[in-house]
Amino acid sequence: MEITDIIDLIEPKSARHHKKLKARLRLDDQVYLARANEFVSKYERILDKDGLDMDYAVDKYLNMIEEMVYEQIQFVSSGRYRYSSFDEVNRLVYSNEEYMKPYIHGLLMSQFLWQHHYEIFDFFIERIKKHPSKINRYLEIGGGHGLFINWAYDLCSDGNNSFTCLDISQSSLDLCKNFNPGKKLNYVHQDVFKHEPVEAYDFISMGEVLEHVEDPIALMQKLHALLTDDGTVFITVPTNAAAIDHIYLFRNAGEIIEVCEKAGFEVVEDFSIYAEDVSVKKAEKFKVSMMYACFLKKK
Ligand SMILES: C[S@@+](CC[C@H](N)C(=O)[O-])C[C@H]1O[C@@H](n2cnc3c(N)ncnc32)[C@H](O)[C@@H]1O
Repeated sequence: MEITDIIDLIEPKSARHHKKLKARLRLDDQVYLARANEFVSKYERILDKDGLDMDYAVDKYLNMIEEMVYEQIQFVSSGRYRYSSFDEVNRLVYSNEEYMKPYIHGLLMSQFLWQHHYEIFDFFIERIKKHPSKINRYLEIGGGHGLFINWAYDLCSDGNNSFTCLDISQSSLDLCKNFNPGKKLNYVHQDVFKHEPVEAYDFISMGEVLEHVEDPIALMQKLHALLTDDGTVFITVPTNAAAIDHIYLFRNAGEIIEVCEKAGFEVVEDFSIYAEDVSVKKAEKFKVSMMYACFLKKK
């Protein structure tokens, strides 16, 4: 199966979404196609091992979108995300396997089906390939499905360095383990705030977690404490993007940068992309979600 076969599977289930994918995805980009097809073959093996198939994955992906649309409609009218307490979303989502397992499959699918998610992933891979120094201790916080650590390991592992995936959700760690068979990864089932390693990390990746905590400055300060003095942090954060487990609202990239700076970081390089093909003026007016990604160093 290839990525285009997955897009075809979506057509009878949601003709409207299928049309959108065809219009937005760059299906003539050979690098995208090669990476997406590599992902599909890895993913098919995982599903198969779990007694699931691509129909299951497509259904979970479409369910996730339906729920996000519901949350976004509420957000646009109220100006607030529905939940604001970490304990509440931990109970409803991260610790609730019935909710989390399908949700994390949906999120994984979105990495190659949403153009903006793919471009953020591409930004990460292209930069990590050219990372100026050897990475000795790599930590991924909230690794979720395990896609980013999978690629980072393939690009940077030399057999002597260590790769750790930390997540508060056992369902996420289970999918991450399945997605990374044969790789020497350490798995930590923990709230990041409780993580006290013996040694600092020289590369920390944290995709889409900052909006999941009540106090993002405290989280960035925690990363500062976990990082070596010349280490690098990579984060991604969505703005104006309602989801059941998004509890801290970032309205624009400036607010994210401010949080990083207050925690003692400076931005080395960044990238942002809207979730829809609209002008900046319209995106701001209609609160269209944006993904922001950056590499950070200690000030
Ligand atoms: C939206 S997913 C992100 C998955 C992946 N990193 C990505 O970029 O697509 C957020 C992940 O962060 C985890 N998470 C949320 N709060 C956390 C915390 N306080 N400590 C550790 N993990 C957390 C969740 O369990 C979930 O797996």
